[in-house]
Amino acid sequence: DHGAHVPVLIIGTGYGGSVAALRLAQAGVPVHMVEMGQSWTTPGSDGKIFANTRTPDHRSYWLRTRTKQPISNFLGFPLDKDVPRYTGILDAEEFSGITVYQGRGVGGGSLVNGGMAVTPRRERFGAVLPSVDADEMYDVYYPRANAGLGVNQIDRAWFDTTDCYQYARVGRKHAERSGFDFVYVPNVYDFGYMKAEDLGNVPRSALDAEILYGNNHGKKSLQQTYLAKAAATGRVTISPLHRVTSVTPASGGYTVAMEQLDTSGNVTSTKTITAGKVFFAAGSVGTSKLLVKLKATGALPNLNNEVGKGWGDNGNVMCGRANHMWDPTGSLQSSIPTVGIDNWDDGGAFAEVAPLPTGIETYASFYLSITNTPHRAQFTWNGSKVDLNWQRSWKQTSIDMAKSIFDKINRKEGTIYRTDLFGAYKIWGDHLTYHPLGGAVLGKATDNHGRLHGHPGLYAIDGSLIPGNTTVNPFVTITALAERNIDKIITTDF
Ligand code: FDA
Repeated sequence: DHGAHVPVLIIGTGYGGSVAALRLAQAGVPVHMVEMGQSWTTPGSDGKIFANTRTPDHRSYWLRTRTKQPISNFLGFPLDKDVPRYTGILDAEEFSGITVYQGRGVGGGSLVNGGMAVTPRRERFGAVLPSVDADEMYDVYYPRANAGLGVNQIDRAWFDTTDCYQYARVGRKHAERSGFDFVYVPNVYDFGYMKAEDLGNVPRSALDAEILYGNNHGKKSLQQTYLAKAAATGRVTISPLHRVTSVTPASGGYTVAMEQLDTSGNVTSTKTITAGKVFFAAGSVGTSKLLVKLKATGALPNLNNEVGKGWGDNGNVMCGRANHMWDPTGSLQSSIPTVGIDNWDDGGAFAEVAPLPTGIETYASFYLSITNTPHRAQFTWNGSKVDLNWQRSWKQTSIDMAKSIFDKINRKEGTIYRTDLFGAYKIWGDHLTYHPLGGAVLGKATDNHGRLHGHPGLYAIDGSLIPGNTTVNPFVTITALAERNIDKIITTDF
């Protein structure tokens, strides 16, 4: 409520925010969470909470009047369509050089992501977070994160036989024939549930093309894991459809200003409360935008000059390959990716074999690559909003790294790239990222545990801490780092 005082306020309910909320509440600290998206608990007129990827509707996009689908075209036809403006689940946030996809709602990115739960190879961790003790991460915090997230592995025998992973087996065959390391990737989607979908015993979700706009069944998002446990403590409250706009020093802590939104995105009221301590967990982009604005406008003048720096796209780039007619990828495709091609050490790319769950045979293999790009961008305040100086041309480095895998496979198989998925005659999806990272980098904008320099009692605890790349999909690392940092913060700051 307006005028209230809370001991701890957390901005955002994604991975970092949910870890902080649970661990603080378990330590006896009452926590209030503020989330600009909605609480996804009420079914729509179709009886479902979340829309399907084949039929996006108003629920699918955050305050847009037209969809912006990551795969924008198919066989020459543009796929996007008009939708009513609504506080939908997926934000396609546009900066001049890049579109950054993010989840909106209680649970953050866990609502929309592919659930791929990947712990980086230990020997690569030093390059990801150089100031963090790797032994401690791999002995304590990665295992804790994996347990907390409910990570599970696919049953290999089932993988080898089920129709819904035909596309992934084609991906495996081609990777192995070209001599690449092929890896099975754990996931937070319940593979036991997926098997039951396959048998026709339960309502379909992964086998009905649900992903990107939410999963109605099977996926363990944060609502089912960290946030459920946090709620069970009785010490955590959440205000959905509230957007934090300002944090300023006040006696005994900070004044936090926020706007309450209706589902069309209109501001219906503004509120201020005071908080003893504030955790920025608004995601890499959300936290960076707030901190850069608050420093530049004088609200938090003592933040240092590292705020806004070190932002990267995890080297994301997408592509499709056109297979021969004797290599069908299947009309039934599980929307949950579970395998990848690891050419990181030789070519700088880790590619997940992604689904194209169109419901028809496409003879296409589709991939999202994570690459070792050196490019980093910076957020700056331009007087009215926060800009990001990412250059579209920087993606060429990532394309070259992804080509270290797919040029070789195409040569071996006698195949070509698809040119119809991102526009007419366009091979590479080089306009986007799913994995924004950085902007309040650990050990630079903060100390080695996420305490923001210059303002005691302010913390960053989300993807903004990680300098631009994790070598694999990022949420397990975001979760494990948050577990590590909150452990320290609870012992020393409370
Ligand atoms: P996260 O973005 O999760 O949460 C931040 C929250 O803060 C959001 O709910 C947001 O609405 C809220 N917020 C922002 N500003 C606010 C403000 N001013 N006031 C109030 N609330 C505010 N990763 C992975 O490891 N495996 C995968 O398979 C995938 N797949 C994938 C697919 C797609 C389509 C996307 C978009 C992303 C992925 N990811 C992924 C990435 C992963 O989801 C992402 O890295 C994490 O969600 C980031 O976690 P954070 O805690 O940093 O923020």
